[in-house]
This record gives sequence, C-alpha cells and structure tokens, in this order.
Amino acid sequence: MQTVYLNGKFLPLDQAQVSVLDRGFLFGDGVYEVIPAYGRRLLRLGEHLRRLQDSLNGIRLSNPLSDEYWTEILNDLIAKNAGEDQYIYVQVTRGVAPKRDHAFPAQVRHTIFCMSSPLKPVPKQELQQGIAAITLDDIRWHACNIKSTALLANVLARQQAVEANAAEAILLRDGLATEGAASNIFIVIKGVMVTPPKGPLLLPGITRDLILELAQKSSMPCVEREISEQDLRHADEIWMTSSTREILPIVALDGKTIGDGKPGAVWHRMIDIYQDYKNQLRRGEVS
Ligand code: PDD
Repeated sequence: MQTVYLNGKFLPLDQAQVSVLDRGFLFGDGVYEVIPAYGRRLLRLGEHLRRLQDSLNGIRLSNPLSDEYWTEILNDLIAKNAGEDQYIYVQVTRGVAPKRDHAFPAQVRHTIFCMSSPLKPVPKQELQQGIAAITLDDIRWHACNIKSTALLANVLARQQAVEANAAEAILLRDGLATEGAASNIFIVIKGVMVTPPKGPLLLPGITRDLILELAQKSSMPCVEREISEQDLRHADEIWMTSSTREILPIVALDGKTIGDGKPGAVWHRMIDIYQDYKNQLRRGEVS
C-alpha cells in the first residue's frame, strides 16, 4: 500500500480522504506538479517548486509551505515508498469552503496532497518503433502556463487520441502547434531542434527546459520559435516530452508517416544524453 501525505500527515492511500466541499473537487480550483525521482533523488526539484509557486500565483493562492518544508515532505515520501524510481504527484487546492460559491472563501485552508507512484521504464517498443499522434484543435483557455488541476480539455484530447490508437494529441491553435495533451513538443528540421517559446499557451515543461539545456551543452542546434502546422507536418522528427514519459519519438501524425517512419538520429542522440543525465542524478552528481 502506498503511503501518501495529506494535510500534515503521512498515511496509507486508502485512508486519505477529502471533503466533497473541497474546491478542488467542486471547481478544479487547484494546481499540481508531477516530479520524477531516479535512484530516490528528485529531478530538478528547485525548478518544479518554482513552477508550483508560479501556478499558485496564477490562481491567487498563497503557498502553504516553504521550499525547505516541501523538500522535506517530498524526500520523506520517497523514503516511505517502494522503488528506486518514483514519481511524485503534488496537489494544492483552495480547500474546503462552508458552501459552494465561485468566489474565494474569506478564509482559506489549503488542501495539500502528495502521492508517490512507481516510475516504470518507458516501454521498449515505444522507444524502438516510436509512437503515433493525432492533431486536434486546442480548445483550452489562455492560461495554459498554470499547471491547473482543471484538465477537462486535456482529458478529452488524450481520450480522443487513445480512441484513434494514438499515444498523444498535438494541439493546434491559430495554425500553430502549442503542445501535447500532457506533454511539450519538439520538432527537428534539417538537424535543428525547434520548440515553441514559453507563454500563456503552453505549460513551461521542466523536461523541455532540461532538453534545451542539455542540447546547448552538447552543441546540438536548437531554437525556441513558433511551429506552424505546415512545419509540424513536414518535420523530419517530432518528439513529445514529459516528466513521466521522458522523450518519445512520434513517427506517425494523423496516420501519415513522419520522416522515414522511424525514431530519428537527433532523437537517438538526445535520449542517450538524457539517460546519462538520469544516471548522473542517481549518483548524486546533478539535481
Ligand atoms: N504533465 N504540457 C502539459 C499540458 C502537461 O500536462 C505536461 C506534463 C507537460 C510536460 O511538463 P513536464 O516536462 O514538466 O512534465 C507539458 C504531467 C506529466 C501530468 O499531467 O501528468
């Protein structure tokens, strides 16, 4: 049984309960983080805590804990759960209010929930053969930089992808590719990695930033610029990136082959660099 953290206590998952009046339940009034850990060491914890703070600022909710306290809780949670590789889910909501009212309650008592799950290796087949994706209209709001628990549009997009036998939906807004339903995207054109710039239309992914940093260190050409639908469809490579699925090569888009239909050369290089980084983290050489 997993051990979770809820409002100051560590307890078994099946004993963790939240009120039906919690604004997270009623309104999706909360934010979250997903943080991977390799060899029981959290990847880029400082960056995840910074993004959590930005998300909280974005919904005008104070941060209930200091970074030091977050660090302690999350490391305790990793220690209390099984497995060298885990991922932590952190959720903070505006808590329970006396009645259902859209406006904020006068007094806020946050709900803080953290859970760890085993982080399984990405399936070999996905790495060897790549995955399929579809494109969909991005019907989300204009604050996608906030990691909000209100994920209905993302849920519907991912479900539509699954029903089309695809692993991800790439979202298009005004002729530009923004991100995936639960991932950021990169394309490769003539050897150059391209990813859309940060802004209100996409989540500033921690994996995305790490890839850009690693690319620069390895002198791999990369740019942050908008990706048109045309660029996407004619790219030599497309990747999706996230904390739990790392870097996955997309080899088919809307049923059409991307590149030569196999994971590309630039992806191969980057995934090796990324695996090296994870091993350095396991040895405690990087954060
Ligand atoms: N989601 N964009 C969206 C919409 C996401 O939901 C995610 C990750 C990302 C990638 O961000 P990062 O590299 O920091 O994981 C981009 C997580 C994994 C989730 O919702 O489970």
